[in-house]
Amino acid sequence: MSSAARFSAPKGVPDYYPPASAEFLAVRDGLTRAARLAGYGHIELPIFEDTALFARGVGESTDVVSKEMYTFADRGDRSVTLRPEGTAGVMRSVIEHGLDRGQLPVKLSYAGPFFRYERPQAGRYRQLQQVGVEAIGVDDPALDAEVIAIADEGFRSLGLTGFRLDITSLGDETCRPQYRELLQQFLFGLPLDEATRARAEINPLRVLDDKRTEVQGMTADAPLMLDHLSESARTHFDAVLGHLDRLGVPYTVNPRMVRGLDYYTKTTFEFVHDGLGAQSGIGGGGRYDGLMAQLGGQELSGIGFGIGVDRTILALQAEGIEVAGPARCEVYGVPLGDAAMAELVQIAAKLRAAGIRVDLAYGGRGVKGAMKAADRSGARLALVLGDRDLEAGVIGLKNLANGEQREIPLNDVVAVVGAGLA
Ligand code: HAM
Repeated sequence: MSSAARFSAPKGVPDYYPPASAEFLAVRDGLTRAARLAGYGHIELPIFEDTALFARGVGESTDVVSKEMYTFADRGDRSVTLRPEGTAGVMRSVIEHGLDRGQLPVKLSYAGPFFRYERPQAGRYRQLQQVGVEAIGVDDPALDAEVIAIADEGFRSLGLTGFRLDITSLGDETCRPQYRELLQQFLFGLPLDEATRARAEINPLRVLDDKRTEVQGMTADAPLMLDHLSESARTHFDAVLGHLDRLGVPYTVNPRMVRGLDYYTKTTFEFVHDGLGAQSGIGGGGRYDGLMAQLGGQELSGIGFGIGVDRTILALQAEGIEVAGPARCEVYGVPLGDAAMAELVQIAAKLRAAGIRVDLAYGGRGVKGAMKAADRSGARLALVLGDRDLEAGVIGLKNLANGEQREIPLNDVVAVVGAGLA
């Protein structure tokens, strides 16, 4: 036994290892599929970026930027940050590479880890996994509906049903500033504590999201953005809802919804699952029509979402749904002796070349242990080869589901196994 201290993963960072990792991949792929069907191209983004990109893109006053970023100076003394979300990086890449000079909208999807220094708890991690899409450059309510329907379809394709979609409009530059003032006037008239008053100063909308009952009571009659939309923002929102109705995507208009990122305008939404306790948001997104210009690009609109893969897996568990990934292998080879091992190694290579997943019992551990390993491997078929079989030019093929075993000619292995799995 080694006396060296063992390592643990960093606090609040989940590992996904077999067999659960197969479910992780299946869920991530399931969530991405609807985006692929709608013509979104894959974008692979850097895990770290210039810190200023997130400060400017996501907003200095947000918790994500002010409290939760993994920021450090690299060896060249540049301030870099592990990406807390994907939208700012997508926008940076689109501007940098001129993707917005081609056909619009630019439709992109991504998947991978993001990093937020949050207080870890069930469903809240410091390394979280998202699948996201962004559609940039066209402000068409039909595009809002497409983005929302893709997320909805992603969840439903996995069998999830216990979630709802909250939606609202945060207005645009023609109505939001007036509304902000109106809300501030209202909030400054309330007996708020100092910290809450300060929040009302910086981001009054966030006070509406205060979870304390006394604050909720005080703000029950606060003016709502939805009642103060400009004509064009109202028409836009109604058109989005009309598309969702026709697509059969159910939603609840929630005028008090507040998102944790500052770039949102107009359509804003969140998918909420009731089986997850406090961390109930399984996905969210919205329009961000000022973001590109704010990051030095053209005045182009955009809309997108981020779905939490970790939380989607928890939601599936809460509903008792098993999303099965493919078994680790389909065929398991059991060699009884060195000559048999030499032959099975080649057979395995041939089967793999034919696209069949194969594993072998390595380490010469005897037939009993090897057959047990075959059963545990998830394979449907076992190939059992002894030295005497080898001389006779045959191999044992065992159906692991019903235990039936027969001999087949060695030369026919690839064809017979392929047909047996079909
Ligand atoms: P977000 O709401 O901050 O939006 O995150 C999206 C999803 O990521 C959440 O709904 C949640 O499921 C998951 N998530 C966030 N933080 C954690 C965490 N600490 N642990 C586990 N899961 C988490 C965005 O990130 C935007 N970029 C979405 C977007 C794209 N908006 C427009 N385009």
